[in-house]
Amino acid sequence: MYHFLRPLLFRLDPEWAHTATLWAAQAAQRTVLPLVASQYQFEDERLKQRLWGNTFPNPVGLAAGADKNAQAVPFWEAIGFGFVEVGSVSAQPAPGNPTPRAFRLPKDQALINRLGLNNDGAEAVAERLEHGRPDRARPLGINLAKTHDPDIMGDAALEDFRTSFRRLVGQASYVTLNVSCPNTPDGGTFEDPAALDALLDVIMAEQKAPGLAVPVVIKLSPPLSDRVLFDTRLEDILAVAMDHDVDGFIASNTAPDRKGVRTSDDRLEEIGAGGLSGPPLEARATRLVQYLYRGTDGEIPIIGVGGVHDAESAYAKIRAGASLVQIYTALVYEGPGLVQRIKEGLVARLRDDGYASLENVVGVDA
Ligand SMILES: Cc1cc2nc3c(=O)[nH]c(=O)nc-3n(C[C@H](O)[C@H](O)[C@H](O)COP(=O)(O)O)c2cc1C
Repeated sequence: MYHFLRPLLFRLDPEWAHTATLWAAQAAQRTVLPLVASQYQFEDERLKQRLWGNTFPNPVGLAAGADKNAQAVPFWEAIGFGFVEVGSVSAQPAPGNPTPRAFRLPKDQALINRLGLNNDGAEAVAERLEHGRPDRARPLGINLAKTHDPDIMGDAALEDFRTSFRRLVGQASYVTLNVSCPNTPDGGTFEDPAALDALLDVIMAEQKAPGLAVPVVIKLSPPLSDRVLFDTRLEDILAVAMDHDVDGFIASNTAPDRKGVRTSDDRLEEIGAGGLSGPPLEARATRLVQYLYRGTDGEIPIIGVGGVHDAESAYAKIRAGASLVQIYTALVYEGPGLVQRIKEGLVARLRDDGYASLENVVGVDA
């Protein structure tokens, strides 16, 4: 089916195609959700895991950015995702950067985006989740970012995170702090160890307050390449995160550079700045998963994301140390059937390699 749909969608501007997909997903979830779910029923006990007090029926999740405003969570669950991460959501609604701001790189099966954290804001997303998700069947991650406004800095930025955390925590199985958005001039600041320390001071104190307990994970930028020796800044970030007892990591966000891309330089110049996602990111993100797994002695769950596009690439992230994986770009190129194909492929690999369950494979290549 997606085989026929894709050429049509690819004629549209990428952001329009995405909006059309979200409309279709919402229409489907209002009318034919059981029918949709019946097409994507594959689950297997071997893929099931318990993490952060939640049962994840399978390790394949929807990455942040695909459903920023939590409009279609039941639909994503129906097509077989084991969990969904919505957001990034910020305390205030934000329009993002001027358009066009999303671009396809078909030669690389990749995307570049500089959306700039456009979202409806914490209040609207919390209300949507309170009313639009009667059946809380699967774990839901909520990804938080600072409101995209250069005037919100310092203490105001911490307050901004605190506001969205308080408003959304009741709906979340885990909360992600997006400290690594490459698309806003001020977005990277929280990946500075001192800034991260200040942010975690605030959020981890909130998390200990009655009624606000939730696992908190932080989402990091990719390393410069899959071969870089990890820099002291990353060591410091890891130390700060461990000091604050964060509950997990997501590796990784999009890359600001164009390493590993085959698309012509002219086209890249025409596109301009933005975060790169898809296969060119794959090896680097996997390397970061491995680094984090080693650095935490495998004791803290890691979500691997970046270039997962089939069972093999998902399996590699898991072997490197990821308990869960997420996808976004490959969904654009492959369509919804990809989720089930990855799950089936993972079960086949477990069987071929003689593992009783996915848990036994996490980190074997770390
Ligand atoms: C169009 C687009 C928008 C994104 N928006 C967000 C976002 O709001 N917050 C976030 O943490 N990550 C965002 N991401 C990053 C993805 O969650 C993911 O980390 C990255 O795309 C790598 O995974 P992939 O190769 O499977 O796409 C976005 C990615 C894309 C392509």
